[in-house]
Amino acid sequence: MKKILLSFVAVFLFFINIIPAQDVKMKNFIDQLMKKMTLEEKLGQLNLPSANDFVTGAAASTDVAKKIIAGKVGGLFNIKSVAKIKEMQKLAIDQSRLKIPLLFGMDVIHGYETVFPIPLGLSCSWDMNLIERSARIAANEASADGINWTFSPMVDIARDPRWGRVSEGNGEDPYLGGQIAKAMVKGYQGIDLSKNNTIMSCVKHYALYGAAEAGRDYNTTDMSRHRMFNEYLYPYKAAVEAGVGSVMASFNEIDGVPATANKWLLTDLLKKQWGFNGFIVSDYTGVSEMIAHGLGDIQTVAAKALMAGLDMDMVSEGLLNNTAKSLKEGTVTLARVDEACRKILEAKYKLGLFEDPFRYCDENRAKTEVFSDNNRKEARSIAAQSFVLLKNQNNTLPLTKNGTIALVGPLADAKENMGGTWSVAANLSKSISLLNGLKEVVGNKVNILYAKGANLDVDAAFEERATPFGKSMHRDNRTEEALLSEAMDIANKSDVIVAALGESAEMSGESSSRTNLNIPATQKNLLMALLKTGKPVVLVLFTGRPLTLNWENENVPAILNVWFGGSEAPYAIADVLFGDVNPSGKLSTTFPQNVGQIPLFYNHKNTGRPLNGSWFQKFQSNYLDVSNEPLYPFGFGLSYANFNYGDIELSNSLLKGNQTLTASITVSNNSKVAGKEVVQLYIRDIVGSTTRPVKELKGFQKISLNAGESKKVSFSITPEDLKFYNYELKYDWEPGEFQIMIGTNSRDVKIAKVNWNK
Ligand code: BGC
Repeated sequence: MKKILLSFVAVFLFFINIIPAQDVKMKNFIDQLMKKMTLEEKLGQLNLPSANDFVTGAAASTDVAKKIIAGKVGGLFNIKSVAKIKEMQKLAIDQSRLKIPLLFGMDVIHGYETVFPIPLGLSCSWDMNLIERSARIAANEASADGINWTFSPMVDIARDPRWGRVSEGNGEDPYLGGQIAKAMVKGYQGIDLSKNNTIMSCVKHYALYGAAEAGRDYNTTDMSRHRMFNEYLYPYKAAVEAGVGSVMASFNEIDGVPATANKWLLTDLLKKQWGFNGFIVSDYTGVSEMIAHGLGDIQTVAAKALMAGLDMDMVSEGLLNNTAKSLKEGTVTLARVDEACRKILEAKYKLGLFEDPFRYCDENRAKTEVFSDNNRKEARSIAAQSFVLLKNQNNTLPLTKNGTIALVGPLADAKENMGGTWSVAANLSKSISLLNGLKEVVGNKVNILYAKGANLDVDAAFEERATPFGKSMHRDNRTEEALLSEAMDIANKSDVIVAALGESAEMSGESSSRTNLNIPATQKNLLMALLKTGKPVVLVLFTGRPLTLNWENENVPAILNVWFGGSEAPYAIADVLFGDVNPSGKLSTTFPQNVGQIPLFYNHKNTGRPLNGSWFQKFQSNYLDVSNEPLYPFGFGLSYANFNYGDIELSNSLLKGNQTLTASITVSNNSKVAGKEVVQLYIRDIVGSTTRPVKELKGFQKISLNAGESKKVSFSITPEDLKFYNYELKYDWEPGEFQIMIGTNSRDVKIAKVNWNK
């Protein structure tokens, strides 16, 4: 009777247009399929093992093959190439009882074989079209090679650069992070998931993974709901609003319960409050890790995870192996198993896999669309937009294409490292070094001399820890002195010195936390020696995180932060060094003066004892040994052009209710070169029922200005931009006085005031 009633309701909703026709079709299809499924087969859908590597043609002899045939696998990851994916899919389609196709996931994080800058770098472009485009190209390549699901975007707000995974996210700001989350989801999923060149996105790591205590990976997080809602949750919510197909639960705990089994987080907030209707997957062994967290044995933690709302178990097999017993014992419900299974089947349906399980397995596409010349061309131009010019004294840059350049440093000839961390699909044998990239771009116009000058670090054991996954730094076993003297020889013969220094690709990323954020000492010694030659020195800085660069900022005339720019980075670096592209990146993360200031972020609260005026003041909130200022603030980045800001013009300074305020400013390029500038809007709510940040980013526009050109940039501000979560976690705005700030970075802004009443 209940079922008849439900079908009646579905038909009714369909007729009054509340449920779209395709959803009714999907529901009916899955209803029919699930009727045929045994409990074991349902649990199989919740299981996501790693495929591990195997030789093409040998899928059937792998460990997972038997499970696939028995209907005990919902999807696979860690598998690359159409040939291998096809073999695995064939096992499911030809040999399993119900022929349910598999999902094929991968960490397509910043590109596939064509690698884009690491996400932190991409975020510094502040260009949403470009970011969406990078995700679109990544989806195109991945889908051409058999993948239908990516574990991206990673949108964890991070304020602690000791944490290696800052490299994988979009920096410290919720608003910017939210815009990027939307752009990435749109880029991957397009408007139709069933197209063979769109893939399902998975936003991660839900939630708060970036707030790991002491910046140590996988560590505890603990924060107030107030901070969570106002600062950390926004980008995940933005991804959900953009229609992301799946969400990955994070490793960390929240309020004492790991995210993987946190019912409030997964069900109450994500599924019910935010209305997320895709599926939730655990992170790698996230379920079984709850044993070490101290929540019980595998059966207990698996039951907790399932009942909290987790739908798919990556690697642990806790759900697969224990749920039948838990059902008998009454710790889980069949309704929850059914719901989770339905979510996975819906994802497969939406991807069009039931219609054609081999939809993403077109060998011709793989041959022509992966690492294509066009994609690489776009990656080169995108990479150049991610670089941030941190210093450029006396216009040291751009360089002219003549004379002799000494290219020095451990990153100069380290091609496997150009792509940065999490470039799992990259074909490292196709990568090129900065040395070769520069040579190709300048041809025989410039004489380029090369010497390594120093290893990544003097400590060989450290270097080994920092160079896994075949990303060698080609350690040179000569003494530090011998390496240095070779570098000095070529430096003395050159007109300009380019020092390619910093971190190796895997010094950031997962499980790559650091307590010291300096450029390794041996590299700094090299830099000091090079500066002593008195020749112009350009530091090309490779890094996956903010580093502490006080000394470098004091002493080196030019610093270009290139992050890890991807497979085409060497060409893009050449484009920027020689001025073919004017740098326009702006930091999405604060660079502190030292590690002791961490966490340091621009949108902090004021405290009852703010520093009024200059440092140091007794009994004010500051340090004895260093000011509160960052080295480089959020939003900072130079250009070869100079931009001047006029004063803010307001359409009105007394507003009421839902009116719109227009705040405009004229930006002029008073230099001789064209350039791009990111005009940033910040707002401060002067008085609130709870304390409010000293400023919050609320808008930005990236504009192009020709030499001598001026443009008026306008922002429309509505009460929506003034909303925040109050003490009761109600999302609303409060009337009163607001500061409107517009500028070139979060520190250097023009200010105007408005009153806004209800
Ligand atoms: C990482 C995730 C990643 C997963 C699958 C985990 O270790 O935390 O970000 O998606 O592995 O590779």
